[in-house]
Amino acid sequence: MSEEERRRPFGLWYEPPESERWDLTPRPASDSMVTLSEIIDITGSNLLGNVHGGTLMKMVDNAGGLAAIKHCRGPVVTVAMDEMTFMEPVFVGELVTVSAMVNDTGRTSMEVGVRVDAENPRTGRRVHTSSAYLVYVALDREGKPRPVPPVEVENEEQQQRQREAKLRREARLARKEAIVRARAAGGET
Ligand SMILES: CC(C)(COP(=O)(O)OP(=O)(O)OC[C@H]1O[C@@H](n2cnc3c(N)ncnc32)[C@H](O)[C@@H]1OP(=O)(O)O)[C@@H](O)C(=O)NCCC(=O)NCCS
Repeated sequence: MSEEERRRPFGLWYEPPESERWDLTPRPASDSMVTLSEIIDITGSNLLGNVHGGTLMKMVDNAGGLAAIKHCRGPVVTVAMDEMTFMEPVFVGELVTVSAMVNDTGRTSMEVGVRVDAENPRTGRRVHTSSAYLVYVALDREGKPRPVPPVEVENEEQQQRQREAKLRREARLARKEAIVRARAAGGET
């Protein structure tokens, strides 16, 4: 691999390969694993020293998007982010670690599970602060959804994540359909 290729994984103006070249061989879930760590400074927080929820959400989307890109080996867009709760505050100066992995795939979409942990580097106290599930869609050269390889689960934990991802997928699509139906009916229930 040339230095140029290494520096720019997608090139400055990335052109995804032609559709007949998609490699749809199942890929192990662990191949998509991503861990991002960052010490949060004052620009990412409010005047109390609490880190903004949006700062963490951006890190979550970055890590989730990277996991999806690693799985499908091409560009993706975020299509949905499930409810994200903040169970513990994160403070300026803490080390935030965001871990992401593809849980399951549809035809063109991938559900990624993301977990956020915060560690006080002075005391060593580490807390699980948030979890979120995001859906990404892989795009082809025209920016249209394109097929992605299935995920290959390697252990019981991943099997459980895949089962639960399928339930969430059904719920998301059912909700989307219900809204479309309700709008078509002009608000009648
Ligand atoms: C993502 C996008 C290309 C999908 O377009 P679309 O016309 O809905 O395409 P499709 O109906 O073929 O759906 C594509 C996939 O998205 C999934 N999807 C669509 N709406 C969804 C929703 N609300 N929740 C979860 N998944 C959804 C579909 O199930 C399908 O996945 P599958 O092939 O695995 O079943 C389009 O909605 C888009 O461009 N959105 C904006 C994305 C963006 O800018 N994100 C922020 C910056 S990255």
